[in-house]
Amino acid sequence: MHKIVFVTGNKGKFAEVRDILKTFGIEVIQDKNGYPELQEDDLEPIAAYGAQHVANRLNMPVMVDDSGIFIKALNGFPGPYSRFIEDRLGNPKVLKLMEGETDRTAYFKTVIGYCEPGKEPLVFPGIVEGKVAYEERGTGGFGYDPIFEYQGETFGELGDAEKNKVSHRRRAIDSFLEWYKGKLENPDQGH
Ligand code: IMP
Repeated sequence: MHKIVFVTGNKGKFAEVRDILKTFGIEVIQDKNGYPELQEDDLEPIAAYGAQHVANRLNMPVMVDDSGIFIKALNGFPGPYSRFIEDRLGNPKVLKLMEGETDRTAYFKTVIGYCEPGKEPLVFPGIVEGKVAYEERGTGGFGYDPIFEYQGETFGELGDAEKNKVSHRRRAIDSFLEWYKGKLENPDQGH
């Protein structure tokens, strides 16, 4: 059985990825020890470096994921600093920053970094486009979900099952799986 270490402290994320990858005969092992996070404006180099670092340390294939919300009127803020801003400011203050802004365009993005020991890392982005709501709505999800509107409903209103069908994370996982399936069918090509 193929084994991949998934570096995440988040139980929900781990269970989601484990269950999806299981259907491809991949065993996912959780590693809660984190990974070194570069300070960068884009998620790709953060995920790539993190995956490579842990793959070489554990001598196993490793995936990590890094996400954020990018708000157009705020020039992409908070982006890779989403966790920090969520912890320090929270949704009400983010909404305050958006007061008077009529362009509410935003997207969530996840980048999965994958690396095998001694190899170059690969990145698989997933994006979902939406709008910043005018107030928090819904009690589902976490983080920015109550202020992220997707097709008229916030992710907080949508509920996890529906959100997970269209989320940035789901799209990044699908993109990774597409590549991984090709690799299983064509093992010689490697990467
Ligand atoms: P992480 O890299 O997946 O841990 O995400 C970083 C931060 O982005 C989190 O602390 C959340 O504030 C935010 N975030 C990431 N994904 C989501 C999501 O699906 N819904 C709401 N907030 C999210």
